Amino acid sequence: MKKILITGGAGYIGSHTVKLLGEQLKGANLYILDDLSTGHQEAILFGEFVKLSLNDQPKVEELFKRHKFDLVIHFAGSIVVPESVSKPLDYYYNNTVNSHFLLSLCEKYDVNNFIFSSTAAVYGDNIEDSKIGAKENNTLAPTSPYGVSKLMTEHMIQDYAFANKDFKYAIIRYFNVAGADPDEKLGQSFPNATHLIKICAEVVAGKRDKVKIFGTDYETEDGTCMRDYIHVTDLAQAHVDGVNYLFEGNESTIVNCGYGKGYSVREIVNKVKEVSGVDFSVDDTERRPGDPAIIISNAHKIKKVFKWKPKYNDISKIIETALNWERIRPF
Ligand SMILES: NC(=O)c1ccc[n+]([C@@H]2O[C@H](COP(=O)([O-])OP(=O)(O)OC[C@H]3O[C@@H](n4cnc5c(N)ncnc54)[C@H](O)[C@@H]3O)[C@@H](O)[C@H]2O)c1
Repeated sequence: MKKILITGGAGYIGSHTVKLLGEQLKGANLYILDDLSTGHQEAILFGEFVKLSLNDQPKVEELFKRHKFDLVIHFAGSIVVPESVSKPLDYYYNNTVNSHFLLSLCEKYDVNNFIFSSTAAVYGDNIEDSKIGAKENNTLAPTSPYGVSKLMTEHMIQDYAFANKDFKYAIIRYFNVAGADPDEKLGQSFPNATHLIKICAEVVAGKRDKVKIFGTDYETEDGTCMRDYIHVTDLAQAHVDGVNYLFEGNESTIVNCGYGKGYSVREIVNKVKEVSGVDFSVDDTERRPGDPAIIISNAHKIKKVFKWKPKYNDISKIIETALNWERIRPF
């Protein structure tokens, strides 16, 4: 039986991935490490849960000693872009220093497969090439400490893999993750979420009174930021595909995970009104620090390399599942 450690597996993306791993990878034992700072124990549908922070180095090392992991999927981290601007050191600690620690345990305990949650934020602005989307080999120019903290980890992973030829990685750069498990068992339950579709869903469910649009003077058609929204279950599937890819003995890789199509903030707000049938208040406000104008993926590589086949590439479906989750939300 292969042993897979999943850090941050009680969180939004981690929990959807654990569900698919549990359903599809019958020959694997899953271990979920999470401090529940933003995650929920109820969201862990498979595997053995260990409530632990990566900051607690002796206990995390004990876990590595006890199990000979075959692969680590590293989701745990801090994720709010504007917060990273006001608390950069917290972000460098949780996202970069803790990743360094995890990699050093992989070195010490001979764990040679690693999947890392990276982000489109490493690209920075994507205005020039928004038609073809950001390619994995584009120049990287993050505009926030969050993006830099993730890029630093990407560099560490690549440099370590260069030094240790047995170590293989898959770095997955997620675009804007949204939606919820179509079986309605899981969804996004992040406290004080800053994700647009999630906020709109909370407004529709009567949990917030309005949606704020941050910046209406960007260099885009309607002046609001443009993003590439990816359904969380398709992203989770990309991780299962990545695990299979590494277990088949393939070479290290960096892939984008998005659909390659952009929607403006205003388009999304209007789409949520249309799908939900609810009209709600929208406030146009100032730009937020750290937000690039356009981030859209070029999504060809992941389909070729992982043979990834997205099933929910439909903005209405993404919104519908997010609305359903917000309505039933058990945790
Ligand atoms: N949500 C997005 O749109 C998005 C986009 C790009 C990349 N990502 C990356 O995906 C990963 C998961 O994001 P998410 O949206 O599921 O966020 P999330 O907050 O729901 O999940 C993160 C999980 O990690 C746990 N955690 C945080 N710090 C920890 C620590 N020190 N020790 C143990 N557990 C810890 C939290 O409790 C939580 O369960 C993050 O690394 C994030 O940077 C997310």
